[in-house]
Amino acid sequence: MTNKALLIGAGGHAGVLYSFFEDQQPGFLAGFVDGDPSKRNALTLPYLGTDDFLARAVKEGFTHFVLGVGSTRANGLRQNLYQLACENGLSPAALIHPSSILSKQATVGKGCHLLARTLVQPGAELGDNVLVNSGAIIEHNCIIDSHVHLAPGAVVCGGVRIGSGSHIGAGAVILQGRQLGQRVLVGAGAVVVHDVPDGKTVKGVPAR
Ligand SMILES: CC(C)(COP(=O)(O)OP(=O)(O)OC[C@H]1O[C@@H](n2cnc3c(N)ncnc32)[C@H](O)[C@@H]1OP(=O)(O)O)[C@@H](O)C(=O)NCCC(=O)NCCS
Repeated sequence: MTNKALLIGAGGHAGVLYSFFEDQQPGFLAGFVDGDPSKRNALTLPYLGTDDFLARAVKEGFTHFVLGVGSTRANGLRQNLYQLACENGLSPAALIHPSSILSKQATVGKGCHLLARTLVQPGAELGDNVLVNSGAIIEHNCIIDSHVHLAPGAVVCGGVRIGSGSHIGAGAVILQGRQLGQRVLVGAGAVVVHDVPDGKTVKGVPAR
């Protein structure tokens, strides 16, 4: 069976992924879904419908999905859509940009996206659906749980653990060895010097 993917979302982040797949795997993306029908003209792909389409996508010949929903704070929507698409029998498409560097001694789960100029060092372990946005760095021996978003330019120093669903803001730095819980939100430009418990938002330098 020919691989055929649908893009979930039609916003700015979806546009970035669309551009990548059109360059690297022309024809792979065969349509998009979005919860907001007014976005149907946002991409030069056929509009398939709202997220309800996911339930019949396999019957319509789709094999894969590309999660095109980003986040600026909470990752719940990314996690829910990822799980819904998987439950409906679609496989998550991985994205490893040719300008990214992924160590052979790192492990990466399903459906992870490593965008342009990212770096993942030896001993790093990424769960499923981790979004490593443009220029973000994951140093050696970090554990990044599923559904985490590292926004553009975030730097995660060695031995850090980040719990599932957390969002690390653009340009933030997490100092070596720090432990961040689940659904943590780190503001853009923050420097995290202490451990952060589940669900907490921290920002600033040092982050509080
Ligand atoms: C930290 C953050 C979540 C706060 O969002 P918010 O609750 O909506 O905050 P507000 O914009 O209402 O600002 C509240 C206060 O925090 C300050 N603030 C906001 N973001 C800040 C940041 N990143 N660092 C330091 N202070 C920040 C504001 O200046 C404001 O201060 P004031 O009360 O003295 O005026 C958000 O600003 C942020 O940094 N999100 C991450 C964005 C990101 O990663 N984007 C990349 C997407 S790809």
